[in-house]
Amino acid sequence: MGNIGICGAGLIGASWAIGFANAGHKSLVYDNNKDSFKKFELVCDQLLKDLTIINPDLDVNKIKSNITLDCSIEDICKDTILIQESIVEDLEIKKKMFEALDKLAPENTILASSSSYLLISKISENVVHKQRCINAHPALPPHVVPFVEICGSTETSTEIIKSAMSLYKNANYAAILVNKETEGFVLNRLQGALLNEAVRLHEGGYASMDDIDIALKHALGIRWAFMGPFEIMDLNAPEGIKDSFSRYRVGIQNLAKQQNTVPEYSDEYLNQLENEQRKRLSHSARPERIEKRNKMIALIRKLKLELGEDIQNG
Ligand SMILES: NC(=O)c1ccc[n+]([C@@H]2O[C@H](COP(=O)([O-])OP(=O)(O)OC[C@H]3O[C@@H](n4cnc5c(N)ncnc54)[C@H](O)[C@@H]3O)[C@@H](O)[C@H]2O)c1
Repeated sequence: MGNIGICGAGLIGASWAIGFANAGHKSLVYDNNKDSFKKFELVCDQLLKDLTIINPDLDVNKIKSNITLDCSIEDICKDTILIQESIVEDLEIKKKMFEALDKLAPENTILASSSSYLLISKISENVVHKQRCINAHPALPPHVVPFVEICGSTETSTEIIKSAMSLYKNANYAAILVNKETEGFVLNRLQGALLNEAVRLHEGGYASMDDIDIALKHALGIRWAFMGPFEIMDLNAPEGIKDSFSRYRVGIQNLAKQQNTVPEYSDEYLNQLENEQRKRLSHSARPERIEKRNKMIALIRKLKLELGEDIQNG
């Protein structure tokens, strides 16, 4: 199995290192700040603990032995089939990094950026071999949500996209293809639409934070764990998806007309959000809640596996 270069040892880099190591690859990790590796080991232990909820037989020592920390940039470029860049979200820094990786890595090594919002056409602007550059954007928290969206620029070769898709799928990631560049790809566009609407409802005084969260976590979110919007619509009316959209077309379109304003996200409103949220959850209770979030996701993944609804089944 080919080696994977991990560039950046923060939360996302650690998750990728574990994900690839768990699939049997050797993960070689580089970071320009030595202190990152101290945190990396703590983060790794926590992430592996969550993963054992999904798979109690997980060979934690094997995974750890597949990860080599404190590599040089040259090390992660030598004999690696993929370099997963996961450094700070800054266009100029990422551009410089891609130029360096392009000079050091063999021509057939895939260069992938984890960036959430920066498009690969921009990141690879000064790269010579643009055909091997892609966005490969994960979801949070990536160790228990093994998802990646792959998007190339107009310069990326179809062969690279194909090999990247099969590489991530073989490493047990639910990989989706974004056919052309669009800011936010699929994940953050869907998430952004929902966030903006939650804010419109809350700011407009239609419902409280508590109640908006309840509508998601005790209603929509339960089916979203195993069905997307198109499948949901297909099962929503006796004749299927066309029947469903025909019945509700006018209602859905009317909503769209009202949902096209851009919330201001003023400092005043953000302070209000912070104050209301802190009444529901104190700042000091957040780490515990993050731990619970990861554990709950792991348990849901385990249940989905048991019910035949995991990644490899689409
Ligand atoms: N955190 C998320 O929710 C999330 C989700 C999906 C994608 N992403 C993307 O993943 C990337 C990394 O995010 P993160 O949350 O892991 O950040 P992070 O701050 O936890 O980690 C970034 C790491 O990169 C290192 N670094 C910074 N500049 C470097 C350089 N020039 N050379 C080498 N190492 C360098 C830092 O020392 C740090 O260890 C970002 O592009 C972000 O948009 C983040």
